[in-house]
Amino acid sequence: EEQTRSRNQTQERDNLYRTGSNILKGTRDKTKRKQAYQLLMKAADLGSTRAMEKIAYALLFGDQLPQNITAAKILYEALAEEGSPRAHTALGFIHATGTGVYPNQAKALVYYTFAAIGGNHVAQMILSYRYSAGISIPHNCEAALIQYRNVAKHVANKLTFAGGILGGKVRLTERHENPYSSDGVLDLDLYQYSKFLAEKGEVQAQVTLGQLHLVGGRGLEQDPYKAFYYFSKAVKAGSTYALAFLGKMYSEGSEAVPQDNETAFKYFKMAADRGNPLGLNDLGLAYLHGKGVPVSYTVAFQYFQKAAEKKWIDAQYQLGLMHYYGLGVRQDYALAYKYFHLASQSGHVLAFYQLAHMYATGTRVARSCHTAVELYKNVCEQGSWSEKFLSAYFAFREGDIDSSLLQYMLLSEMGYEVAQSNAAFILESKQSTIVRENQTYPLAQLLWIRAANQVYTVIIIKYPSPHIHGLGEDFGYVFCFILHRKLSQLIISLFKIYFLGAYNTNGLGSSTDVHLAKRFYDMALQSSQEAYAPVLLALAKLEVVHFFSEIQRASFSYIWGYFQM
Ligand SMILES: *[C@@H]1O[C@H](CO)[C@@H](O)[C@H](O)[C@H]1NC(C)=O
Ligand SMILES: *[C@@H]1O[C@H](CO)[C@@H](O)[C@H](O)[C@H]1NC(C)=O
Ligand SMILES: *[C@@H]1O[C@H](CO)[C@@H](O)[C@H](O)[C@H]1NC(C)=O
Repeated sequence: EEQTRSRNQTQERDNLYRTGSNILKGTRDKTKRKQAYQLLMKAADLGSTRAMEKIAYALLFGDQLPQNITAAKILYEALAEEGSPRAHTALGFIHATGTGVYPNQAKALVYYTFAAIGGNHVAQMILSYRYSAGISIPHNCEAALIQYRNVAKHVANKLTFAGGILGGKVRLTERHENPYSSDGVLDLDLYQYSKFLAEKGEVQAQVTLGQLHLVGGRGLEQDPYKAFYYFSKAVKAGSTYALAFLGKMYSEGSEAVPQDNETAFKYFKMAADRGNPLGLNDLGLAYLHGKGVPVSYTVAFQYFQKAAEKKWIDAQYQLGLMHYYGLGVRQDYALAYKYFHLASQSGHVLAFYQLAHMYATGTRVARSCHTAVELYKNVCEQGSWSEKFLSAYFAFREGDIDSSLLQYMLLSEMGYEVAQSNAAFILESKQSTIVRENQTYPLAQLLWIRAANQVYTVIIIKYPSPHIHGLGEDFGYVFCFILHRKLSQLIISLFKIYFLGAYNTNGLGSSTDVHLAKRFYDMALQSSQEAYAPVLLALAKLEVVHFFSEIQRASFSYIWGYFQM
């Protein structure tokens, strides 16, 4: 009888935990999240360690429970005793940043190391960043590479193409200067307006809404029923993209649509026959994996080629893979490299992953730990944890400054440059109460320096420019500093200073600028081997702008451009 009772209790505990954590995963709605924490507290009372971890997290970052750093620390210390890697990571963070304690880097390092050994990806990223930037441990590229590769592998396995384009993050400094700019978060008004258009029969709006609901994220919940609804509407109105997306839904299966390879194939075929690049690519994938048809690498290759001719980025990546592994073609690392490079220029994250691997192993290119680390870091930064940017930003917008600051600080520890700038920005605004007054400025300065070290890779390139006045006709070249990594904005402003005066363009943001900037980058790329990763990343960012503006023209989605950048 005793046994039955304890078994029932275990079951109840696990059910409570599962229900609570599923709610947290699926929604930002405050009331629902509060209810979820009620369930998790009950589960914690019954001894669920994982529920306790979630509660400690909520206390630390102030998610629907009143932020109480002391209470969070006590709970995490108890959990760390039991060996919880998450608790080790949190304690490392608390000691590294001096949250409620005096900063102690040695202690932080011990906790982070334990957590990383325990398999915690966040801690592994933090350690990699410390190794690669030489923060409180000596710079060690190879050690950084091992950890980053591990995390990148995990991230790459979870990525689908839909989530696999480098996305923009809200930069608070810019937001401050231009409060009306798009902020990377889906605007509710815009969403309502699209819904209105979609109901009125606007095909673009239907496809866009279908996509948004299919993928979720950026403040919008995933909803396969709504996705199916909008795609079906768009198919009736003649959209070939919607046909291909319906195929995707059947291919993946969900609550709304049963997994069905044959039906998926049928939709892909219909879209492909009408020349739709997404349909061509998906048909290639169907032949590659034998979904709904027998496997044929040769046929798959042909479809990828057709889609790649239409500049479909994922098809370029797939061609890279086929050349890399010799599927349907002779193995050819040079061609593989070419296609991965092409796809990565448009921000295809998995292409970055493959390139990183080639640099890490010295396949076809000269081995470069430095380049591999830079590329892997970017893959890692696309992990699910990057969603924290959204909650940090929402907290900031709602005036919950302490919660926002702590979340940005955690992301800063993980090596995100935008988070470092944002945390420093908040600290300088003196609105936070977490950090002691005499610590605020030094911490802000430290974060600015870390951010700057990541951004200001100084590369000197020569640019032939007879048009620039005041430098002498026979000078012929302008020496330019590219200060950047992911900051195409910075480059664009530099670019503006140096070139826009000379060229008669239509103003920033026009496609002319993109082309000019691209040429500018291409030259930098040729001029320095060291510049490879940073320039590639900057190019990717530019291509994303360009890519999405092209997609807009292809009647794909006009919101993408709005909220991607
Ligand atoms: C925070 O938690 C600690 C320890 O549980 C408790 O003593 C303290 O009263 C709490 N502070 C607030 C403001 O609730
Ligand atoms: C669809 O195809 C995949 C890949 O061949 C296979 O693993 C899966 O079981 C298939 N689904 C169904 C429902 O047959
Ligand atoms: C900061 O202030 C606290 C108390 O307000 C003090 O104990 C500490 O020594 C100060 N730190 C520095 C670096 O001045």
